[in-house]
Amino acid sequence: MPIISEPEDFHEDDLFVDLAATFGRSLYLKCEGFNFAGSIKLKAAREMVEAAERSGVLRPGTVLVESSSGNLGVALSILAASKGYEFLCVTDARCNLATKRLIETLGSRVHTIVEPDADGGFLAARLRYVRELCASDGRYLWLNQYTNPANWKAHYRWTAPSIARNFPDLDVLFLGAGTTGTLMGCARYFKEHHPRVTIVAVDAAGSVTFGGPAAPRMIPGLGTGVRPPLLDVSYVDDVVHVPEVDTVRACHRLARKGFLFGGSTGTVVSGALRWLAEFAPGGDPTAVAIAPDLGERYLDSVYQRGWVEEIYGPDALDLDHEETVTMLQSMGSAR
Ligand SMILES: Cc1ncc(COP(=O)(O)O)c(C=O)c1O
Repeated sequence: MPIISEPEDFHEDDLFVDLAATFGRSLYLKCEGFNFAGSIKLKAAREMVEAAERSGVLRPGTVLVESSSGNLGVALSILAASKGYEFLCVTDARCNLATKRLIETLGSRVHTIVEPDADGGFLAARLRYVRELCASDGRYLWLNQYTNPANWKAHYRWTAPSIARNFPDLDVLFLGAGTTGTLMGCARYFKEHHPRVTIVAVDAAGSVTFGGPAAPRMIPGLGTGVRPPLLDVSYVDDVVHVPEVDTVRACHRLARKGFLFGGSTGTVVSGALRWLAEFAPGGDPTAVAIAPDLGERYLDSVYQRGWVEEIYGPDALDLDHEETVTMLQSMGSAR
C-alpha cells in the first residue's frame, strides 16, 4: 500500500496493456499516465527540479519558467505547489483549455503565444519569449527541457529499467520523440545494457526532428519545429513518421476498446504497428511502446468529431476504410 505525503512521490511504473485484442498483434503499451500529473513528464520535471536544487540555482524566491505544450506545465505546477516555488508556463494556441485550467488551479500562471514565428513556428516563438523574460528579470529560472540532461536522465533512471525488468526478452522498443528526453534516456540505457534491442523513434509527420520539411501539426506532444538539441541519432536504429490522421484513428480504435489515451499514444501505436507490419510481417517480436498520457485532456480535439473532420476531412473517422485495414491484412489478421 503506497502512502505518500508529496504528490510527486507516486508513479505507477509497471503497468502495460497488451494491444493484441485491439490490433490483432502483440504490442505492449507502457502506461505513464497514472500519477498526479497524468503524464510521463512528472519524471522529467522532478529530475530537472531536483538537479537544479542540488546545484544551487533553484532557491526560495526563484520563479520557474518553462515552455511546454501542456504536460510538463502540469507536472511543474505540481512540483512548484509541492515545494513552494512560483511557476510560469509559456505555451501556445494549441494547448487545450483544460490543461491551462489545471495549471492555474494548481497555483501557477500561464502565458499563451498566439502567433507562430515565420521560421520555426510556435516552438521558436515560445522559446524567444522565455529567453527574453529570463534576460530581463534575474528571478526567473528556465529549466529548459530541450537542453537539460536531467530530462533524458529521468528516463535512463526510471522508464527504461522498468521496461527491461518487465520484458527481459524485449526485441524492439518504440519511443515517441518530442524533446527526445524519453527517446534519448531509454535509447542510451538499452544501448549500454541490452544492445540487442532495436530502438525505433516515432515522430509526427511534419516535424523537423529527423530532417524533412516542416508542416503544420495540430496535436501537441510529439514532433517539433526546431531540431531538439538532446537528440543524438547514433542511438536510434530506425524512425517512423506518422500523419496526424493515423494518430487520430489509432486513438479512436483504442477508445472503442475502453482505452482512452492521449494523442501521442495514437502516434506511437500507429507508427509501431506500421513498422511491425513492414519489418516483422510473419514473426512475433516482443515489442513495447510508451503511452505518455491519458485521453481526457484531448476530449475537445482528438476525441471531438467536428474538430477531427474539419482538420482531417470527412473520412477521418471512418475506421474501417483506412490504412489500418490494409495494415492488418498485411499482417494476416484482418477483422
Ligand atoms: C503527450 C506527450 N507526448 C509525448 C511526450 C514525449 O516527449 P519527450 O520527447 O519530450 O520526452 C510527452 C512528454 O513527456 C508527452 O507529454
